[in-house]
Amino acid sequence: MPTLEDIRTRLEAVNQAHLLAFIDTLDASPKEQLLAQIEAAEPETFPSLVETYVKNKPLADLPAGVEPAPYYALAGDWDRAAARNAGEDLLRAGKVACFTVAGGQGSRLGYDGPKGCYPATPLSHKPLFQVFAESIRKASSLFGKPIPWAIMPSDLNHDATVAFFAQHKHFGLDPADVIFFPQGSMPAFDRSTGNVLLAAKDALALTPDGHGGSIRALHRSGTLDALRARGIEHLSYFQVDNATVKPVDPVFLGLHVAAADSSGEMSSKIVAKTDAAEKVGLFCNIDGRTAVVEYSDMPVERQQETNPDGSLKFNGGSIAIHAMSLDFLSRVATNPDYALPFHRADKKVPYCEPTSGEIVQPAEPNAVKLEMFVFDALPLAKRSIVLETDRVEEFAPIKNAEGNDSPATSTALQTERAARWLEARGVSIPRSSDSTPACTIEISPLTATDPAHLEGIDLPEEIEAGSEVLL
Ligand code: UTP
Repeated sequence: MPTLEDIRTRLEAVNQAHLLAFIDTLDASPKEQLLAQIEAAEPETFPSLVETYVKNKPLADLPAGVEPAPYYALAGDWDRAAARNAGEDLLRAGKVACFTVAGGQGSRLGYDGPKGCYPATPLSHKPLFQVFAESIRKASSLFGKPIPWAIMPSDLNHDATVAFFAQHKHFGLDPADVIFFPQGSMPAFDRSTGNVLLAAKDALALTPDGHGGSIRALHRSGTLDALRARGIEHLSYFQVDNATVKPVDPVFLGLHVAAADSSGEMSSKIVAKTDAAEKVGLFCNIDGRTAVVEYSDMPVERQQETNPDGSLKFNGGSIAIHAMSLDFLSRVATNPDYALPFHRADKKVPYCEPTSGEIVQPAEPNAVKLEMFVFDALPLAKRSIVLETDRVEEFAPIKNAEGNDSPATSTALQTERAARWLEARGVSIPRSSDSTPACTIEISPLTATDPAHLEGIDLPEEIEAGSEVLL
């Protein structure tokens, strides 16, 4: 632990000595906490962060040559069976772990607790974490190998997340296979001066460093090394709020490791956009590299461009599902040439005024918060493949309390997917005039994570309108 004098000299060198304004008034333990926070925030990086992101705003200029990223289409003529075989081989060899980023604040949902604890399924109201845990258990039993699961909460929800798993006996997983590690944070900067803000006399104003921070957190926490020691070579990455994600998808993993045009470093899934105006990240090809361009950075005219058959040219919407190799993640986490950029957000951040010690609640955005996005790692991969999937099959996010991407739309999609799986097995499903199922169905991941798993299971011939079916 560096001494107070050491920290003071380093802060003075970067004009941030106000962070020690109250140090002489603090008891030993808060004093130590503040010094540790300053050390972890790497004061030497402050001047370039202030210059690049606070005093200036990096321009998101779109290169002229941006084109849609090519992708393996849902109905495309490619060898799905070969991909599945390659993925299954990888799983049988025990080389895959799952990875969930769960450090977000979930402010739009307004749920009091980590988002993964949210009751997400239509009938049994299983929490999201349970849905994923059961899918992982199912895959693990199918492929005969444990599939470790790394979960990254942030300081804001770490303890609650760990306690939730303990309370629910890790949903049947071996606790040794569930690895929690904390997300890193970034200090908030005063928007006009570039000074790092104090949240209190003994604490920096810190905020989670974005899902892209997960890559350095995997490294810093020793999780990459721990997984490597277990023989893991690839991670299946997904967000905490997608109730129908396939945590383990052999076809996707197989393309990622074995497709001729994949370097096996980082791969992605997309869904076709609903229309040109849908607000999702767009999969593009920039100078031969795959990249996600935020919809707000893509001119509207370009988003509306169509192919000769009338389909949207920039059709690949990001759903934040990736496969990544451990080697690639190590490189991104440790090699400065591969450092992810930050994205700036101007926010209202309460702060402790360094002369009076008063806590100020700003009425207007006063601070710059910096976050990294995981998809910014894509262009760092030499050859990165993209797989199209079906929205109903794999994308039922819970983001908002109401409206789009809400619990209501997610449960409707879960029922629709279950209805399709049953229809594929010859079960007659009642449908309303708008063709949505006139019943509620939930299929446990322990029963099936793929329609093929319903084979041999005793199913009803038909489901009555208004009924609830739990399989
Ligand atoms: P979102 O962009 O939906 O953000 O995160 P959020 O914080 O969960 O929700 P809002 O915007 O406050 O309503 C997408 C995924 O990235 C994770 C989230 O937990 C979610 O799985 N995430 C986000 C992190 O792990 N860390 C972060 O700093 C931000």
